[in-house]
Amino acid sequence: MTKKRVLSGMRPTGKMQLGNLLGAVENWKRLQEEYESFFFIADWHALTTNYADTKDLMASKQDLLVDLLAAGLDPEKCTIFEQSKVLEHAELFVYLSMITPVPWLERNPTYKEQMENITDKDLTNFGFLGYPVLQAADILIYRAHSVPVGMDQVPHLELTREIARRFNTLYGEVFPEPQAILTETPKLPGLDGRKMSKSYGNAIYISDSPEEVRKKIKVMITDPARVKRTDPGDPAVCAAFVLHSVYTDKAEIPQIQAECRAAMRGCVDCKKRLSDFMLEQLEPVYVSRLELIARPDYLRDVIEAGNARARQAAQETMALVRKAIGI
Ligand code: TRP
Repeated sequence: MTKKRVLSGMRPTGKMQLGNLLGAVENWKRLQEEYESFFFIADWHALTTNYADTKDLMASKQDLLVDLLAAGLDPEKCTIFEQSKVLEHAELFVYLSMITPVPWLERNPTYKEQMENITDKDLTNFGFLGYPVLQAADILIYRAHSVPVGMDQVPHLELTREIARRFNTLYGEVFPEPQAILTETPKLPGLDGRKMSKSYGNAIYISDSPEEVRKKIKVMITDPARVKRTDPGDPAVCAAFVLHSVYTDKAEIPQIQAECRAAMRGCVDCKKRLSDFMLEQLEPVYVSRLELIARPDYLRDVIEAGNARARQAAQETMALVRKAIGI
């Protein structure tokens, strides 16, 4: 029996945070065991918003590759590639752009939201409006059945299905309609208790050394009402406790809660315990990152082999596409 295909992509936009690791990549790791899996670095999509500032793009792409491998994607089990090295995506994008009505793109909620909220960049460029058409090309060119993504990508998946239906109606059945596999991303608070985000400067990165992680956790906000060590605390309003609930051994959680509420355990000790549990998972990834960075030839071989495999699959679909269109 042939395996079903999954495909997903990530934009290279800088250092990977804990949330990305827990959300997307943990999911991809599971999927690579069961599916024929394609995971790619969406460098063209990064350009749709960052076209004016490309100086860090190469470094971000390399970082993302290292992160994915360090986190446990296995190039023997899945295909890891770069979008811009499989030119067929661009060709399919052209054909799909012919059949996609502009109003479908203008009413895309992600587009509207970002147009309103991103004020430091000019997003009136055509490529930004066409973002979902490029994403549809990414997905359809592999005739992927499933696309693991977060909730925020659901409108893009819906558009992809609409574009696939329109293509199939006009030219004949070429594309299966892909389904989203929704990734549960635990909402991680940053060090100051707000949503973890690069722009708030409150994030923990998977490239942080164990010492950096400990330092950051030390200053992480806890129950703001617990001023003195002898004050009872409330785990329900403690940002550090959210990380406990993600990283700490489940069996230990009730004790942590009870000792906090009874002022038996201070925040300093409590967060030290948290760092221990976090580093049990994060330190191997950190070490693996260092090992990978020291092997640039290996990294190049992995991505080139992935690009070649992806190109092969993309070319098979494009032969069907051209024939269906009659061009
Ligand atoms: N838009 C996705 C994101 O921002 C990245 C992406 C591009 C993608 N092409 C894709 C995801 C195709 C899944 C499938 O996260």
